[in-house]
Amino acid sequence: MDSIYKPSGDACKTFQSDDRLSPGLERIYITPTKLTYIDGEMGELRYMGYRIQDIISAGARAEEVQYAFLNGSLPNREELRRFAELIESGYDLPGYVVDAITSLPRSSDAVAMQSVAVASLAALSELTWSHEKKRDLFAVMLGQMSAITAVSLRHAMGKKPRLPSPGATYAESFLAALSGDRPSEMRAKAMNDSLILYMDHEVPASTTAGLVTASTLADPYSSVLSALSALRGPLHGGATEGVMSQLMEIGDPSAVERWFRENVLSGKRKLMGFGHRVYKSYDPRALAFKSMALELASGHDTAKLLSTALALEEVGIKSLGEKRLYPNADFYSPIVYACIGIPYSRGSYTAMFALSRLAGWLAHFDEYLSFGGRIMRPRALYVGPDKRPFPPLDERRSAAHPRSVVGWYLAVELLQLLRGKLWLPVSREHSLPV
Ligand code: ACO
Repeated sequence: MDSIYKPSGDACKTFQSDDRLSPGLERIYITPTKLTYIDGEMGELRYMGYRIQDIISAGARAEEVQYAFLNGSLPNREELRRFAELIESGYDLPGYVVDAITSLPRSSDAVAMQSVAVASLAALSELTWSHEKKRDLFAVMLGQMSAITAVSLRHAMGKKPRLPSPGATYAESFLAALSGDRPSEMRAKAMNDSLILYMDHEVPASTTAGLVTASTLADPYSSVLSALSALRGPLHGGATEGVMSQLMEIGDPSAVERWFRENVLSGKRKLMGFGHRVYKSYDPRALAFKSMALELASGHDTAKLLSTALALEEVGIKSLGEKRLYPNADFYSPIVYACIGIPYSRGSYTAMFALSRLAGWLAHFDEYLSFGGRIMRPRALYVGPDKRPFPPLDERRSAAHPRSVVGWYLAVELLQLLRGKLWLPVSREHSLPV
């Protein structure tokens, strides 16, 4: 992967100190929330007051947590049964959605495939944030997203569409649709727990992008579409893919030190899967994914990926720890996905992240509007030219070819001509100004 773009230059430095500006919206609170709490200093993450470690160790089903996000409290047995039925009713995707995915080239990014499918559902949707049955319909959307993701990842593998079937858990139905086989208990549990670990994270870039769209009262599908687009970037959910390609490029634990020195210490690249805007200590999701990877990785390929990641983490913390950079959720999740049997293709791991995050996205968008959320309309601090006359077309100088450059060009051409007369051997290629 290319080095990550980093804004630089005088403009950034000059205006960064203006206290009206908050580059990257750092430390700006855009909404109250009852959903997710992060303590970045302590490395603590809670969903509606429940620590994620406690949710995982209680053996919760992903559907229970999805229900809690969308309905405000954990379900009882009957509520869970009905919620699961609603999810299952979403598995049966309309044919035009499946066609929208499969009409794309197989090498397409999997998140782009999800986006095309979600956009096609938005096309005819009458679901609004004030719809009296919106909570039921959000559950249907969870089912649709599972089917969309399975069809997308199968399409990337050149396999025919297969939709999840009712009668199993959300995690099991998805894995069975993806591979065609009933997953082992261990794979289903790992899939379930990864759904929970990625389910929500307050207001990162993707949730904020979706919140902006929802704040205009655009429909839920369109709001999810915005969130999906923001998730794709390598600084956010796209880091899952970046981590995997980083580990494959390094190839072996013995190559870690050298790779790190040449790529990260040299300033050429960022270490993917490291650093976080909020966590200034170990991301608790990274700890959970790491212990899952330690439990699951076996066989040559995944064990080697894991030992490379462990060596990279050690070197990374040793040299980046002083900047308070530690592994984030995306550092070990690709290994867990590989162990579960999720095929690695363009955007496939980020698509898994999106599948997990849907409940959190919808919960935040709905909560924002239920709190009376206003349309998001921030300001930009103007730093351009002062008031000036508008020049007629013929009087404008080209920014690409200012007069001085044209003058230079003519002068050099004249010199060439004179040299030609004096029989001086000058290469034309090297004499032209660029
Ligand atoms: N590798 C090397 N240096 C880093 C890294 C990294 N991964 N992350 C941050 N830094 C450095 C920056 O260069 C900067 O150094 P400087 O002060 O000497 O200029 C300092 O740490 C602060 O970093 P910022 O870029 O200002 O941090 P910001 O909060 O804007 O960015 C982000 C956070 C995007 C997560 C960043 O840490 C990063 O790019 N990480 C790699 C991509 C990644 O893993 N993204 C996944 C995020 S988690 C998620 O989406 C689930």
